[in-house]
Amino acid sequence: VSTVDEVILLGGELMPALMERVERLLEEASAGDGPDLEGAASDTLAAGGKRLRPLLVLICGGSRDDEMLVRAAAAVELIHMATLVHDDVVDNALLRRGRPTVFASGGREAATATGDFLFSRSFALLASNEDDEQVRVLSDACVALARGELAQRHDAHRVDLDEERYLLRCELKTARLFSAACRLGALAAGRSAGEGAALEAYGARLGLAFQMLDDLLDVSGPAERTGKHRGTDLLDGTVTLPLILAAGRDPELAQVDLRGIASREEAEALCDRIADTGALGETRARAKSFVSDAKATLRGKVDAQLERSLTEVANRIAERYA
Ligand code: IPE
Ligand code: IPE
Ligand code: MG
Ligand code: MG
Repeated sequence: VSTVDEVILLGGELMPALMERVERLLEEASAGDGPDLEGAASDTLAAGGKRLRPLLVLICGGSRDDEMLVRAAAAVELIHMATLVHDDVVDNALLRRGRPTVFASGGREAATATGDFLFSRSFALLASNEDDEQVRVLSDACVALARGELAQRHDAHRVDLDEERYLLRCELKTARLFSAACRLGALAAGRSAGEGAALEAYGARLGLAFQMLDDLLDVSGPAERTGKHRGTDLLDGTVTLPLILAAGRDPELAQVDLRGIASREEAEALCDRIADTGALGETRARAKSFVSDAKATLRGKVDAQLERSLTEVANRIAERYA
């Protein structure tokens, strides 16, 4: 049993069946528009993924047998998939989920079209819930994502990046979709404004921690565990918390010119130097502190069972190694 399966069970006994329904909707949404799009989209789908965002939608929605909730969960995962396919173009990434990216196998044009396709299918699916607010919530998260990806490009190669700016990027490109997932669950379940706000705040903090740990894993690898090449961020000029903290500890690292990192071997060597400073432990500690904050936002604000499930999800994320 994988960690994902364990987490799914934490959401209650209906959860495996609900996740199965999400999978069916994802398959349907990826099919039926000609072999090119369908091929790339279903390869992306078949490669798997942790399905963390739909899990949050379902849990925050009370893990109920409700088609509207299942559709919202699938819509969020489709946005996530679309952004990954596009992100791999922007990041020049060749490996994802242990397989070649659409960018690697089909090129920039195919990946752009596949991402657009998944994005459109997501909104078509969510629109069938006939709730304007749900569409607005997901749309706002997508706008944030786009801003985050652009901000990251804008900051490329800047080793003197400050932590505040780094956190803003994490918020835009990752945390907003996490909080949207929680909000959508709350909306579908008709929760009170107070509960909805607590869930949204939980998602935002969890999302920050999640991105920080992802950035750590980019440095630590190994690819067999993460399904992505180690050092992808450095090779592509993306400065993240491990390097920011390492530069504060090793003056030579503060002077490093990322434009000079041209091969995967050089990127991995730089990863090792970052790790040597102890910056990875510090990155993990910062992420864990956001995980604690996430759990704290729920206290006294949501019912005990919901708090238990979400606390357990947060604990698993804090232990994240892939
Ligand atoms: C990867 O997200 C992108 C980030 C926000 C770090 P996940 O690690 O959730 O990707 P999958 O869906 O499990 O592959
Ligand atoms: C998250 O950032 C990507 C998006 C939110 C689109 P990364 O670029 O770190 O994600 P990975 O490492 O490629 O999965
Ligand atoms: Mg990337
Ligand atoms: Mg990454």
